[in-house]
Amino acid sequence: MVRSSAGGLSALAHGYDPELCPSSHAASDVLERFSSSVKPRSVISLPAVTSVRVFLFILVALMSVWVLFPILTRSNHEPVAAHSLQSVPRMSWTANLHLGQPNWRSYTLRQAAQALAVDGILIVCTVSHPYMPFLNNWLISLAKYNRHQAVLIIAEDYTTLDFVNSRWPGHSVLIPPASSETTSLRFGSQGFFNLTARRPKYLLEILELGYSVLYNDVDMVWLADPFSYFKNNREVYIIDDMALLKTEYHSHALPPPGKKGRTYICSCMLFLKSTEGAKLLMRTWIEELKERQWSPSVKTNDQPAFNWALNKTAGQVDVYLLPQVAFPSGGLYFKNDSWRKETENKHVIVHNNYVVGFDQKIKRFRAHNLWFVELDAGLSPLAEKGG
Ligand SMILES: *[C@@H]1O[C@H](CO)[C@@H](O)[C@H](O)[C@H]1NC(C)=O
Ligand SMILES: *[C@@H]1O[C@H](CO)[C@@H](O)[C@H](O)[C@H]1NC(C)=O
Ligand SMILES: *[C@@H]1O[C@H](CO)[C@@H](O)[C@H](O)[C@H]1NC(C)=O
Repeated sequence: MVRSSAGGLSALAHGYDPELCPSSHAASDVLERFSSSVKPRSVISLPAVTSVRVFLFILVALMSVWVLFPILTRSNHEPVAAHSLQSVPRMSWTANLHLGQPNWRSYTLRQAAQALAVDGILIVCTVSHPYMPFLNNWLISLAKYNRHQAVLIIAEDYTTLDFVNSRWPGHSVLIPPASSETTSLRFGSQGFFNLTARRPKYLLEILELGYSVLYNDVDMVWLADPFSYFKNNREVYIIDDMALLKTEYHSHALPPPGKKGRTYICSCMLFLKSTEGAKLLMRTWIEELKERQWSPSVKTNDQPAFNWALNKTAGQVDVYLLPQVAFPSGGLYFKNDSWRKETENKHVIVHNNYVVGFDQKIKRFRAHNLWFVELDAGLSPLAEKGG
């Protein structure tokens, strides 16, 4: 099961990037080495029938322990009971690996949050399987600043859930119902709306569990560690999606509404403290989405509703607009070369938007040396173990 889902993804990823799942025959190598080292010895050391019986008895006893031990420990220990991070889901679940994968379908958001949060903070993204190469690229960029341990990938389909947890146990959870989409969802489609409309519900649930959360779209990359920007004790940190260049020391308040009567804040990157204000914003976003459903004439997504939620909760939520120079939109970063060069060491998270389509996004990342799945594949937490 592990093999087949990983293989399926590697085939899928192939169209975008053959490097995502570098093919490795580590497991079969190990098996070969194992059998070649065991066979000769067992053949040599069989002098009498009695010793064969003793040998078989010991073998059976050992195998029972080997099989039963994980079953017993599994029923007693929730996978995520402890607080320390990286090692927890890995240790308890890998004990079961030789029995096949544990049942990740019953892994809950609460368990995952408990296992993964660092200092009460989770780093969250939502992913459907066509986005796997982007997920990998984003993860590698986080690994450079050693922040990946707190990442929780909310899978929109079982392919993603199984793949991530087979490579990186405990780092993905699926909140039912799973999406049945098998093709990539184009920006502006109803499927894209449906998928993105689930985001505020996930985020609200995390806040209600008592965790703060940094949400990122996976077509972003980190060029520096963003956490120093979240220290002035505000409730919600947002970034502007405008391409228009602002002065370097612009206001950090919610900008004035634009032409459509609302702001253009990006729902692609949010840092939310687990406070009443942040929860109110999420609830209002959910309400606004209900009133602003997708239709063939208004091909909306989750972002206008988010901006109306900011408008309606203004004064009740302590919102902080992050500096544009550190968190530029793709419309600024990728389109204004002179600006990008002048501000080179000030960029923190870059969004590959203002371009539509996977191929275009990858081409652009490559052109700017940001397609880390090729440049730094070894840093990926999803890299095949032992490969
Ligand atoms: C999106 O959701 C609506 C309402 O729940 C549903 O009727 C529609 O079939 C969904 N469309 C897609 C493409 O997922
Ligand atoms: C909210 O939107 C309305 C309509 O565009 C606008 O008049 C008002 O100034 C906005 N409020 C804030 C706080 O931005
Ligand atoms: C691009 O950036 C430069 C600063 O480097 C600025 O003067 C110019 O107005 C920007 N161009 C656009 C189209 O925003």
